[in-house]
Amino acid sequence: MGAMTGPGPWWSRAVFYQVYPRSFRDSNGDGVGDLDGVTAGLDYLADLGVDALWLNPVTVSPMADHGYDVADPRDIDPLFGSLEAMDRLIAAAHERGIRITMDLVPNHTSSAHPWFGTALAAGPGSQQRARYHFRDGTGPDGLHPPNNWISIFGGPAWTRIVEPDGTPGQWYLHLFDPEQPDLNWENPEVFEDLEKTLRFWLDRGVDGFRIDVAHGMSKPPDLPDMQIAENRLLADMDSDPRFNHEGVHEIHRNIRAVLDDYPDAVAVGEVWVYDNAAFAAYLRPDELHLGFNFRLVRAEFDADEIRDAIENSLAAVALQNATPTWTLSNHDVEREVTRYGGGPLGLARARAMALVMLALPGVVFVYNGEELGLPNVDLPDEVLQDPVWERSLYTERGRDGCRVPMPWSGDAPPFGFSTTADTWLPMPADWSSLTVEHELADPDSTLNFFRRALALRRERTAVAVGPVTGLSAEGGVLTVHTGGGLTCVLNAGERPVDLPAGEVLITSAALQEHSPSLRSPRPGRLPVDAAAWVV
Ligand code: GLC
Repeated sequence: MGAMTGPGPWWSRAVFYQVYPRSFRDSNGDGVGDLDGVTAGLDYLADLGVDALWLNPVTVSPMADHGYDVADPRDIDPLFGSLEAMDRLIAAAHERGIRITMDLVPNHTSSAHPWFGTALAAGPGSQQRARYHFRDGTGPDGLHPPNNWISIFGGPAWTRIVEPDGTPGQWYLHLFDPEQPDLNWENPEVFEDLEKTLRFWLDRGVDGFRIDVAHGMSKPPDLPDMQIAENRLLADMDSDPRFNHEGVHEIHRNIRAVLDDYPDAVAVGEVWVYDNAAFAAYLRPDELHLGFNFRLVRAEFDADEIRDAIENSLAAVALQNATPTWTLSNHDVEREVTRYGGGPLGLARARAMALVMLALPGVVFVYNGEELGLPNVDLPDEVLQDPVWERSLYTERGRDGCRVPMPWSGDAPPFGFSTTADTWLPMPADWSSLTVEHELADPDSTLNFFRRALALRRERTAVAVGPVTGLSAEGGVLTVHTGGGLTCVLNAGERPVDLPAGEVLITSAALQEHSPSLRSPRPGRLPVDAAAWVV
């Protein structure tokens, strides 16, 4: 268990497990997952075979965006526990050889952060306001926002405040929710404070960070208007003045200089940038160790698209000789079972894609519940909590459907997740065959399939280490060869296909037998919507 042996830092071939703390496991019966719940789940995660955890934000927050609105970055929110609970988790994880990384949110704070309160009180032109982006409005009486930027969650990216004397006042910038004011990274106090936060957690034993909106932070000084595109979701942002401004790289160099004092620490950035050279710039030796690459998340279940996504991701990191990362889902996107068609079809494809992802060199991120084959959940309007729902004026349902709590055991909600059935999002009544308990007892379950695949990836080091030496998509069949002698075949076509001769290490679905009269030396045929590893 734990970090793999071999050349390179511990994270260079690690499997990270993303814990959405609200939804992993509830230890105190309030219907919301928490840190002691994560600690209680560590044996399960050790048996699953993960090397590290990425915890979504657990710091103090009014939870307008479920923790991505941070009011105190150096303390734990009581909803999730306490600093002592975090210490317990770090110690218990380390005992099992599992590393802990935390989410760091440097682009914005919560509007409940003391800095923002003092900025409102201090008035225009003050040093306190200079920690954020306050501007006078345009037009008569400053009635209109300073520019046309829109929030990622919908609506304008500016909100007008009332000045301390009661008059309509300045506007402040928030690329996300109004309760997430953007910090002004030109102000040196902002980095000084982030450095304190980095050292605070690293000194407590945390092994690194996932950096939220790592392509944000820096803004062009004149805040030029943006071009408004139809799709304003976190999509192609390469020519968007709100993101990926040159100044961001100095910030990453400063973060890295701190991390270098802790030689084992790792930083992985959320970088929604699609131009390969622009993406790779974040991975220069003095910036981020790793960058999330979202091409597989965006690819359809189509052999050509998947090949292109892999090729592109490898080409991007090759520009800086950096380590690739792979992920099929996270707390911001629809779960892959549903993306690939839902039901048994979606599940078969999700399992097949997991084998593709795990055959690739570099770092893999598995999102909690992915190992159980959880689908997205269609939630009724009245339980939706993601700010996207309200901000989009009830046109986009937001991300709650991929954040439903994990089912652990039993036949009815809350399925062992909590002691109360009143969980923060309701759990579908028909999840009894998707619980950890149920899946552990079924050798063919998605959970046991993941456990086998992760064990193989770990034990057959060559599988994980081998660079991609061949990649092709023909007739709907994707074939990946790695330097370690592994061939991964994905059948995204319309009929079963023959596998290459060799030993079949694992398949995502049962192979179809050849008719005995054929006396084929080859393994059975790979059905559609399935994948296999052959050595
Ligand atoms: C990132 C997070 C997302 C959050 C946003 C604002 O995209 O992954 O969940 O809403 O940043 O912090």
